[in-house]
Amino acid sequence: MTDTLPQSTTDPRGLIFITPESFGDMSQWHEVAAELRRDAPVVRVEAEGWTPFWAVTTHADVFEVSRRSDVFWNNEYSAPGPDITYQMLEMLGLDLPRTLVHLHGAEHDKYRKVTNDWFKPAAVRHLQPAIEAIADEYIAKLDELGGECDFAQDLAVPFTIHVIMTIFGVPESDERLMMELTQGLFGAADAEYLGDFSDPQELVGNTIGKFKDYFEALTEDRRQHPTGDLATVLATGEVDGRPLGEAELLWYYIIVATAGHDTTSYALSGGLEQLLAHPDQLQALRDDPSLLTNAAEEIIRWTSPVRSFFRWAQEDVELSGVTIPKGDVVLTSYPSANRDETVFEDPNRFDIRRPDADKLLSFGLGMHYCLGAQVARREVRTLLGKFLERTATVEAAGPAQYTPTHFVSGVKHLPIRYTLK
Ligand code: HEM
Repeated sequence: MTDTLPQSTTDPRGLIFITPESFGDMSQWHEVAAELRRDAPVVRVEAEGWTPFWAVTTHADVFEVSRRSDVFWNNEYSAPGPDITYQMLEMLGLDLPRTLVHLHGAEHDKYRKVTNDWFKPAAVRHLQPAIEAIADEYIAKLDELGGECDFAQDLAVPFTIHVIMTIFGVPESDERLMMELTQGLFGAADAEYLGDFSDPQELVGNTIGKFKDYFEALTEDRRQHPTGDLATVLATGEVDGRPLGEAELLWYYIIVATAGHDTTSYALSGGLEQLLAHPDQLQALRDDPSLLTNAAEEIIRWTSPVRSFFRWAQEDVELSGVTIPKGDVVLTSYPSANRDETVFEDPNRFDIRRPDADKLLSFGLGMHYCLGAQVARREVRTLLGKFLERTATVEAAGPAQYTPTHFVSGVKHLPIRYTLK
C-alpha cells in the first residue's frame, strides 16, 4: 500500500538514527527500526542542529540508494553529523574533509584507483600471515591477563589498530606512538576516547600536526625506498599524471586509519558478545572452525558497526512510495537494512550458519563499497579463530557496554572470564 504513505513525515522515532544515546541500547534501537520499516520505511527526520534528511530503512532502498550513485551523490558532508561539526572545522580554520567517502563520480574514481588493486581479494590474501602474527601476539596476552579481561579494550581494539599500522607499513618501533594518535583523535567519537577538547586549537595543532608530520616523513621515505606496503602505493601513486599532494595523502591516511580500526573492533567485540550469549554456537565453532567464514559474515551483519551515511539526491526520486525531492539528503541505515524481515529469515536471530548472511549491507555497495571489506573479514575470522583455539572456556564477566555514538559504534567494553587450554 505504498501509495497511502505520506510524502513527508517527521516521525519522532526517526531520531534513533542520530541520537547518540539510542545506540547505547541496540535491542531497543532495533525494535524502533522494525516499526519504522513497517510504518514509515522512508521517514523524514527534522532535528535541531541537523540538516533535515530522509532515513532509508529497508534493504531494498539502502541497496537502491547505494547502487544509484548517478542519482545519490556523496559530498563533503557524507559522514552524518550535526551542523556544529562543520562549524567547528570552520572556526578552527580547517578544510572540509576530502577522503574517498567525501568524493563523487570521476573525482572519486581517480583517487580510489590509487589503492583499489592493493585491496583486491587476491592481494589481501598476502596479508594473512601478517594478520595471523599480530593475532598471535594479542592471544599470547591472555596468559598475562590472568583469566579475566576486557576483550574489547585488551584485544580487539589494539589488534585492529596494529593491523592497520602494518598495512600502512609503520615500523614496529613507531607503532605505539601511532596507535596513541590514531585512537586518541580518530577513534570512536566517544568522550571516553577523545583527547582533551578543552583547547581544540592545541589538540588540532598537536595531534593532527604529529599525524601529518609522521605520514609525510613515511611517504618521503617510501619514495626513496619503495616496499610493498600501502604507504608505498600512496607515495608512488598518481592522479592526473602527478603524485598525490600533501593534503591528498593526509586524507587517504586518515580514511584508512579511521575506517579501518574501530569498525572491525566493534565487529569482533559484538561478535564475541553474541557467541557468549549462544554457547551452543560458540561450541560449534570450536568443534568446526570451517564455520568461521560464515560466522564472520553473520557477525558483521549483526553488529553493522557503520550506522549510516548521507547521500544527496540529484533529481526527484521515489523510494518506497515517498518522493525525495531533488537536493534533499537521504540517510542509509545499514543496521536496519541488515534486519529487514523481507530479506533475512527471522532477522533478529543470531545464527552463524545463516544461509542468507551474505546478503548483508554492512559494507555498503556500489562505487563506495568498503575498500577494506576483505581485510575486515580476515581480521574477524583470524582473531576469533585463534581466541577459540587458545581458550578452554569463556564466559561473560559482566554486561557488555555500547558506545553511544551515531556514526560508528558497537560494544566498547566486553568483560570476560576464561581458562586456557
Ligand atoms: C567490519 C568492518 C567494516 C565495516 C562494517 C565497514 C563499512 C564501510 C562502509 C559502510 C563504507 C561505505 C560504503 C558505501 O558508502 O557504500 C565503507 C567505506 C570504506 N571503508 Fe570500510 N568498513 C569496515 C572495515 C574497513 C577496513 C578494515 C578498512 C581498511 C583497511 C576500511 C576502509 C574503507 C575505505 C577506505 C572506505 C571508503 C571507500 C570509498 O568511499 O570508495 N573499512 N566501509
